[in-house]
Amino acid sequence: MTAVEKIATLRQELHYHNRKYYVDNAPEISDFEFDRMMRELQDLEEAHPECADPNSPTQRVGSDRTTEFANVRHRYPMLSLSNTYSLEELGEFIDRIEREEGETEFVCELKFDGTAISLTYENGALLRAVTRGDGESGDDVTANVRTIGSVPLTLTGNYPAEFEIRGEIFMPYASFDRLNAEREAAGEQLFANPRNAAAGTLKQQQSSIVAKRGLDCTLYQIASRELPFASHWEALEAARSWGFKVSEHARICRSRSEVEEFIAYWDTARKELPYPTDGIVIKVNDFAKRRRLGFTAKSPRWAVAYKFKAEQALTRLVSVDFQVGRTGAITPVANLEPVLLAGTVVKRATLHNAEQIAALDIRIGDMVYVEKGGEIIPKITEVELSERKEGSEPLNYITECPECGTTLVRYEGEAKHYCPNQGGCRPQILGRIVHFIRRKALDIDGLGTETVELLHESGLLNNIADLYDLRAMDIAALPRLGEKSADNIMRSIENSKSVPFARVLFGLGIRFVGETTAKYLAQHFKSLDAVMSASKEQLLESEEVGDKIAEAILEYFADENNRSIIERLRAAGLQFEEEAKVLHSEVLKGKNIVISGKFLDHTRDELKEMIELHGGKNQSGVSATTDFIVAGENMGPAKLQKAEKLGVKILSESEFVALIGADAEVVVAEAKSTKEEKKEEKKQEDFVQGSLF
Ligand code: IVH
Repeated sequence: MTAVEKIATLRQELHYHNRKYYVDNAPEISDFEFDRMMRELQDLEEAHPECADPNSPTQRVGSDRTTEFANVRHRYPMLSLSNTYSLEELGEFIDRIEREEGETEFVCELKFDGTAISLTYENGALLRAVTRGDGESGDDVTANVRTIGSVPLTLTGNYPAEFEIRGEIFMPYASFDRLNAEREAAGEQLFANPRNAAAGTLKQQQSSIVAKRGLDCTLYQIASRELPFASHWEALEAARSWGFKVSEHARICRSRSEVEEFIAYWDTARKELPYPTDGIVIKVNDFAKRRRLGFTAKSPRWAVAYKFKAEQALTRLVSVDFQVGRTGAITPVANLEPVLLAGTVVKRATLHNAEQIAALDIRIGDMVYVEKGGEIIPKITEVELSERKEGSEPLNYITECPECGTTLVRYEGEAKHYCPNQGGCRPQILGRIVHFIRRKALDIDGLGTETVELLHESGLLNNIADLYDLRAMDIAALPRLGEKSADNIMRSIENSKSVPFARVLFGLGIRFVGETTAKYLAQHFKSLDAVMSASKEQLLESEEVGDKIAEAILEYFADENNRSIIERLRAAGLQFEEEAKVLHSEVLKGKNIVISGKFLDHTRDELKEMIELHGGKNQSGVSATTDFIVAGENMGPAKLQKAEKLGVKILSESEFVALIGADAEVVVAEAKSTKEEKKEEKKQEDFVQGSLF
């Protein structure tokens, strides 16, 4: 057998076993054997880049390249369903249909609680995966969806040459719990519920991250101009036979009472399912009837979603605490008489902010309804006014910080109150240090929240700059910490001095400057000094920065105390500049280039990066020294006029990419990656280059 034949055979076998494992839940070979075959295929593909195929089973591991999502128009709009929480309304829906269509069969399905997806297949191969978006067009998330084991990359059997199939991408509870546990350990913000986690994961810019998150996908609707089926049930069975995961819990119901029985059963049984559901979808089975029933503007008239009510419990409000976060934001938290809700004992619930408290008119001693609306922390939805005690007083919101006594402030457009005493309020001081040492920031291992507290109490740690003045003996002297852990901590403090600038910027904890914004700022401004001296207008030029973020940045650097901390960090030797790039080529040497407008395939910062990597210089305005302009959509009219006057050449995005050479895309990916990712990137690079021939 030639290598090329072997690749084809292995791919076919791996697709088959993948389906057995992820779709049919009936593996035929061991994980060990599967991994062995996969490695063999990977090696062969590496040796034969001309055989690269985006639908090869090896592509399920995803890639570390960051991708932006192109907006794609749906061929058939993705409608939503009308909802009801009431069996009575559901009965009216069924009656209406039977009045119009006579006795009717309904297919009842679980309503999966994830995020909708539309998959396009051509000649049995996955071509595209697009999110619902606004229903008319959505994001092309194909690279991410390819990594989901239960999505078939190639089909079997008698499938139409071209069709779209729709379903739900969701996160099973086991994946969700694992993900949040990892995030908690890394000090990262938790996902509120599996639905948010699924949607957030699908929008990840690196498919290799998606591959690790354990998403699943179930399909429930085929969209095609012509289908050889008379009913939904037949279509579902066919989809299953082509290799799709179609829920085994769907049933045909022939009367209102059968539908109600199905609902009553799943209202309880769903609690045992390993994935989240939030209702039942009831659909007319017969396609001819569906065609006659038609659509309203937003949803089909032949289907409805019956949603389960979130579980509620009634309990007493004992007191309200006010918590102060790292940024000084105040969150009121209700202390409740313990009550059992959806399997767990609830003692506390969030009250969000002052407005929420006023809207509920909640008072100490009130009986209140708590609900787990899919959030981690339960919330109070309503007060049982009939049980209110006489003489109860409305709850007064605090005006001073419960931790440091400073008068609270409210920023325009913000629902929360803030304690402005950043430098002297304990939870803020500790919160900022804990944020700074997080894995995604300076990654100072061994220093947990408890040690930070101990060091703070012993007067050694009041701000992030103090970390770099710590001595091993100070740490070793603390209770429960010996010399060995002191050495470890000192080593990781030392290592943090080589953490790239973007993560340092993130670690500063500027309000609203998350990981991604920090990356963009670093890429755009190249140094902390440039960020610090930027005007609001200049800040707004960076990707992801809007009014709110720009103002938070200005405010942060206007603070004398923050500036002195930054100078101490500089003196300690932290990275305040983007690493110098190794030149990839000199094609643009000596060229002054202006980037203007919006682009399809790259962000402006990516294009600027490409210019620098190929020896060119970025110019902000058109002048006599400009060699050419790379123009996207909506290039400024002033720039265009000036360019015409000066006779400056204008290139389109694709002309520019062609000018640099075919490896331009690879260069961008490389510029973004860290050292550890380089190896994986290399493989990808081979693949990209391979597919160019
Ligand atoms: S059918 C024309 N079936 O619920 C409408 N939707 O509220 C086609 N969903 O956007 C949708 N499970 O994201 C359908 N078994 C199921 C579903 C389901 C979950 C989601 C889907 C849809 C939303 C409508």
